[in-house]
Amino acid sequence: MSTQPLSSKIKDPHANNGGVNAMKPDDVDGKKVFIETYGCQMNLADSELMGGILAEEGFTAADSMEESDVILINTCAVRESAEDRVFGRLSHLLQHKHENPELVLGVTGCMAENLREKIVEKAPYVDLVVGPDAYRRLPELVADAMEENADPVIDVKLDQDEVYEGFSPKREDGVGAWVSVQRGCDKFCTFCIVPFTRGRERGVPPEEVVRQCKDIAERGFKKVTLLGQTVNSYEYEDTDFADLLEMIVPIDGIERIRFTSPYPIDFTDKLIDTIARHDEVCNYLHLPMQSASNEVLERMRRQYTVEEYVDLVERMRERIDGLALSTDIIVGFPGETDEQFQQTKDLMEELRFDFAYMFKYSERSKTYAEREMEDDVPESVKKERLTSIIEMQEDISREICESRIGTTQEVLVEGPSKRDDSELSGRTDDFKTTVFPRPADDSIEAGDFVDVDITDCTSHTLLGELSG
Ligand code: SAH
Ligand code: F3S
Repeated sequence: MSTQPLSSKIKDPHANNGGVNAMKPDDVDGKKVFIETYGCQMNLADSELMGGILAEEGFTAADSMEESDVILINTCAVRESAEDRVFGRLSHLLQHKHENPELVLGVTGCMAENLREKIVEKAPYVDLVVGPDAYRRLPELVADAMEENADPVIDVKLDQDEVYEGFSPKREDGVGAWVSVQRGCDKFCTFCIVPFTRGRERGVPPEEVVRQCKDIAERGFKKVTLLGQTVNSYEYEDTDFADLLEMIVPIDGIERIRFTSPYPIDFTDKLIDTIARHDEVCNYLHLPMQSASNEVLERMRRQYTVEEYVDLVERMRERIDGLALSTDIIVGFPGETDEQFQQTKDLMEELRFDFAYMFKYSERSKTYAEREMEDDVPESVKKERLTSIIEMQEDISREICESRIGTTQEVLVEGPSKRDDSELSGRTDDFKTTVFPRPADDSIEAGDFVDVDITDCTSHTLLGELSG
């Protein structure tokens, strides 16, 4: 079996095999797989999981699509734009099938779950369609798809007990690793497809989370990001999310712990206290607000009011030193008036998030909003609203970065900066990317903590020099 990680490339801008396996290992031994990932960090973590499951059965990594026997596109369905991109990508990949008729082309993830008919209809050359709860059977399904058969192999059954306990995801070496602690979502926000594509919420047993964290610490990772759709709602028997954090904090080698995405009203005082007490837990939180109109929040079925959200932000800022916050905002939700949009813009200005992910509402099939509400905000108005908050947020983000000029920040070095190999890049404890010149003696490497004097910035990056 190969110990090489399977390729896992993220597009865009997130073992023991336990199960029945009917495949014949000789058929797949050494077959090369390439996984391309779209969407959130949970999806990237799922690609690593698929890599682990496949490597266990003898598949190896492909360095490029050209040399692959199997290409898997791990998809996202959360917004229409993500879906359109995947269909574009699939038609492009058809060319690889012309060059190599044996190639197995598979679609996994949320679109597989949600759009299997459309995939089969629009991209009939796809050989394999596998939903997020069927990855345990992936080696077997790929082997089936390799046999000559005109019909695609499909498994999109959801399984409310599946947490992939005991599998070891294939993580590429690095400074930070993801660990999924929860799958699915039970909130059913009226705009969101996730509960339909990923099924019911379930926690990964705490011993399994700890096992994976110890494993990555032993491999030299310094930072772990715990993942779940509403990660702070985590529950496993008597263990809640604060308890889970307490179990990870003492693990030797894990110096920073982050988690995403929490759900606003599921922050208990106990959890806030746990975050505040431990230096290892990063002082950066992503807190999706979506809107600052109570009517809109109610129609979104977000279960909190604007006042409760603001109160939470205030309590957290009081308790957690130097807390950085980001958020998600949707503009143009059905029925959103100019005034309701303005309330959102005003509150963003008042709360001053460090950064924000901002989206135009797009209708998703099966959701309550799609069934019961008219997508009545014109596209041009959605665009205008989006541009207007993006411009405002850019200024706020830049001002917050500028306020760091003249300070010294502790940075966990991640590697060479994307733009310039003579510079190193890393993150502060509050998640700000920081770039500084690489010392001439090359004495600093990924995984080191260094102090950086901040001298300049862009709207999302701090620039500086090594301190001292
Ligand atoms: N709890 C998850 C949410 C996943 S979706 C998490 O934060 O990881 C991520 C974000 O996409 C949501 O917070 C929301 O702002 C946005 N989103 C979800 N459905 C959408 C839709 N139909 N149209 C536009 N944006 C949407
Ligand atoms: Fe989606 Fe709401 Fe869950 S945004 S992932 S239904 S918390």
